[in-house]
Amino acid sequence: MSTASSLAITIAGIHMKNPVIAASGTFGFGKEYSSLVDLNKIGAIITKGTSLEPWVGNPPERIAETAAGMLNSIGLQNDGIENLINEKLPWLSQFDVPVIVNIVGHTIEEYAKVAQRLSETDSVAGLEINISCPNVKHGCIAFGVEPRMTFEVVNAVRKATHLPIIPKLSPNVADIVAIAHAAVDAGADAISLINTLIGTSINAETRTFRLANITGGLSGPAIKPIALRMVWEVAKAVDVPVIGVGGIMTAEDAVEFMLAGASAIQVGTANFVYPNAMIEIIEGLEAYLSRHGFGHISEIVGIVQSPQC
Ligand SMILES: Cc1cc2nc3c(=O)[nH]c(=O)nc-3n(C[C@H](O)[C@H](O)[C@H](O)COP(=O)(O)O)c2cc1C
Repeated sequence: MSTASSLAITIAGIHMKNPVIAASGTFGFGKEYSSLVDLNKIGAIITKGTSLEPWVGNPPERIAETAAGMLNSIGLQNDGIENLINEKLPWLSQFDVPVIVNIVGHTIEEYAKVAQRLSETDSVAGLEINISCPNVKHGCIAFGVEPRMTFEVVNAVRKATHLPIIPKLSPNVADIVAIAHAAVDAGADAISLINTLIGTSINAETRTFRLANITGGLSGPAIKPIALRMVWEVAKAVDVPVIGVGGIMTAEDAVEFMLAGASAIQVGTANFVYPNAMIEIIEGLEAYLSRHGFGHISEIVGIVQSPQC
C-alpha cells in the first residue's frame, strides 16, 4: 500500500487524504496560513465559527498564555454567513481540501438557518456544530451542557441540511457520554470532541483578571489528558466516528487519540506555536505506521489495551 493511501480516510462521507484536520478558530479560513502551510496536504479545514449575522465578539484582552496552553475569549467574532459564502469559500475552493464549516448560533433557529443556507452552496463538505454557544432563549446556558438541548439543536440542523453534520461537544459537563448519545440520536454523522474548558487567569501584580470577559476557553497541552479520556469514553459508547481534539501538538499525541478511538484528529493551539505542526503530524503518522508494521491508519483506531490486573 502506498504511503498516501495508508492515511486516506472517509468520515461522515467526507474523503480526506489523511486524518489531520485544522481545528475551528485556530486556522481562520486558511488564508493567513497559506504561505506557511501547504493547504493541499492537510486532511480537512474546519473554518472559524460562522453565524447568521456578523458577531463582534468580546472586548480585549481576549487571549492569555498559561503554563501549558492558552485561554481565549474571542466570543466567536465572525463576519457572518454571507461573507463566508461570498468571500471565504470561493478563495478556499482553489485548494484540494475538504472545507467543513463550523456553525454557531444564539438560538436553534439561527443554527438551522445557517445550515440551510450552507446547503445551497457546493463548496462545503460538512458542518461542524459548535454546541458550546449560549442559548439566549434558555438562560444563556450553553446548548451542549444538557442532553435535551443538545438533541434539539442537532435535530434542527439535521432537518435543515443534507450535508454531513458533526456536533462538537463541550467538555464542561459531568457526563460526556450522555451528551454524545443525544447528538447521535439527533442524527449526527460523526462527533468532534473536545471544545475548550472554562478557565481564568489573574495578574497578581495588578490584582486584575487578565481577560476582559474574566473567563475564557482553555486549550493546548494542559487539556490533552481530559480530551483523551473523553474521546476514549465516547468512542466506546457511540457507533459514529469520533474526531479527537485537545492539546495535540505532535504525531505521538495524534497516535494516542487514535489508539483511544478517534478516527481523525484536529490540531488547534499547536498551529499558533508551530504553523507547520499539521504537516509534521502527517509525516509522523506515516512514520509510525511503517515503524510498527501497520498497513493503514484505520488499523490503530481504538486498539489501546487496558493494563493487565
Ligand atoms: C483562539 C481560539 C478560537 C477558537 N474558536 C473556535 C470556534 O470558533 N469554534 C469552535 O468550535 N471551537 C473553537 N475553538 C476551539 C478549538 O477548535 C479546539 O476545540 C480547542 O482549542 C482544543 O484544541 P487544541 O488544544 O488543539 O487547541 C477555538 C480555540 C482557540 C484557541
